Amino acid sequence: MKTLIELKPNTIHIWSINFVVNDDGYQRYFSFLSEDEKERASRFKFYKDRRCYVVVKGVLRLLSGVYLNKDPKKIEFNYGKYGKPKFRHKTNLNFNVSHSGDMAIIGFVYDHTIGIDIEKIKDDFDTFEIASNFFSKVEITALKKIPKPEQYRAFYRCWTRKEAFIKAKGSGLSFPLDEFAVSLDSDLDANVLWTKWNTAEKHQWQLTSFVPSKGYIAAHIVDTKIENIQYFNWANQLG
Ligand code: COA
Ligand code: MG
Repeated sequence: MKTLIELKPNTIHIWSINFVVNDDGYQRYFSFLSEDEKERASRFKFYKDRRCYVVVKGVLRLLSGVYLNKDPKKIEFNYGKYGKPKFRHKTNLNFNVSHSGDMAIIGFVYDHTIGIDIEKIKDDFDTFEIASNFFSKVEITALKKIPKPEQYRAFYRCWTRKEAFIKAKGSGLSFPLDEFAVSLDSDLDANVLWTKWNTAEKHQWQLTSFVPSKGYIAAHIVDTKIENIQYFNWANQLG
């Protein structure tokens, strides 16, 4: 496993995780958590949410342990002003996590900022109602041009790309979502099109969409150009 997941500089590793595990698997992931995390896990009302928390934190610890050559149980995290987690000890390794439905994704990269988002695709809501609250004018106009059967997918492309961007920035809900725009008309062509505060900033970011599992869509973004992107499936090695 160690050689399989060696992460070189100028490379991005993206892990997809289905966090539906059996009781034994759950217990094993739980055993990697810190006392604080175990306590936090116990406060989830629904088992589904608790399992997501426990398995995703467990996998994050196991993978980080390999990348950092550390005991997964001893890894410590701290949190940015708006809650973005990072490693507490000094390292150039950065990561970001997202979960939706039964899936989670974790992205790792050295030396650069990364943001990641996954969404389970639903089609039981009014895309334009949500878009009018969250998207910029450029994006709403682009969404209107998409043929109706593809509008939900285009909506989620836009949503995951925007959210990956604000997660890279680490600023969460404090960030003005209508002050930047991303492309939304193709899975393959993902770009930051416009940033109101700095016209040159769009050139800096590398935005990528991908499909971690059928029925899901995801995006990741880094603050530099990195050609080497490797995708892995965490096949519930622990149960
Ligand atoms: N920046 C980056 N990552 C953060 C973060 C921040 N400020 N705060 C938390 N995270 C990480 C954590 O690892 C978190 O995992 P946890 O829930 O197990 O602690 C993970 O991101 C959650 O990401 P995701 O699964 O994608 O959650 P979300 O989509 O519900 O929320 C946040 C994303 C955390 C950034 C949320 O605070 C937020 O601001 N959401 C904005 C929602 C929105 O308006 N989106 C519009 C897109 S058009
Ligand atoms: Mg999200």
